[in-house]
Amino acid sequence: MSRQAGTAVSSLQQPCLLLERRGGPALRLEQREAGDVGCVVWDAALVLAKFLETGACPLARRAVLELGAGTGAVGIMAATLGANVTVTDLEELQELLLVNIENNKHLVTGSVRAKVLKWGEDVTEFQPPPDYILMADCIYYEESLEPLLKTLKDLTGPDTCVLCCYEQRTMGKNPEIERRYFELLQADFELEKIPLEKHDEEYRSADIHIVNIHRKRAVG
Ligand SMILES: C[S@@+](CC[C@H](N)C(=O)[O-])C[C@H]1O[C@@H](n2cnc3c(N)ncnc32)[C@H](O)[C@@H]1O
Repeated sequence: MSRQAGTAVSSLQQPCLLLERRGGPALRLEQREAGDVGCVVWDAALVLAKFLETGACPLARRAVLELGAGTGAVGIMAATLGANVTVTDLEELQELLLVNIENNKHLVTGSVRAKVLKWGEDVTEFQPPPDYILMADCIYYEESLEPLLKTLKDLTGPDTCVLCCYEQRTMGKNPEIERRYFELLQADFELEKIPLEKHDEEYRSADIHIVNIHRKRAVG
């Protein structure tokens, strides 16, 4: 799978990615040429969004929260599958999230809203724990690891399923960041890798992984 495996169409000011859906018209996802990493749809988001469409995880009427949503591709896809979704990211990504929610609202069969959630900060307004937490390409810089893990601990209940999709990168500090993240995570969570053959047939890649994460059950 090549980067940006969806169909990219460009208008002069706002490049737009069309992400095909099994169930009908494609999602229309605006991106921004200028801005931080959250302004484009990353491959891990494509892989996770298309995995959701396989039906492996029941989403209809489920409460879903997406962390580091960027353009909102994954969460909006979940909302077209009947989930009640909150897509979250930093303040500066809210405008793009709102544009993409508006562009795709006619395809949503559940619900979707955008909220600011900075990792490590108070999550009271996102309680009770959702059924699913979705994360695509959120493990990429060292300073974020502990705040991100705090957020995961604060948000998850015993029945929350976290689907974390990430691209395994070999450059620079990436392997160490990834190793450290999973090391820290395993103190409180159990991990199960979703085999590649369960990913969408077209939107899969050997270096993009989906991990199913649950809180460890208290012993006794
Ligand atoms: C590599 S982008 C991935 C975006 C999107 N999930 C995707 O895969 O297309 C990482 C996202 O994490 C968000 N992010 C980074 N640090 C964050 C923090 N401390 N709190 C909340 N979001 C953060 C960024 O704004 C960005 O949208």
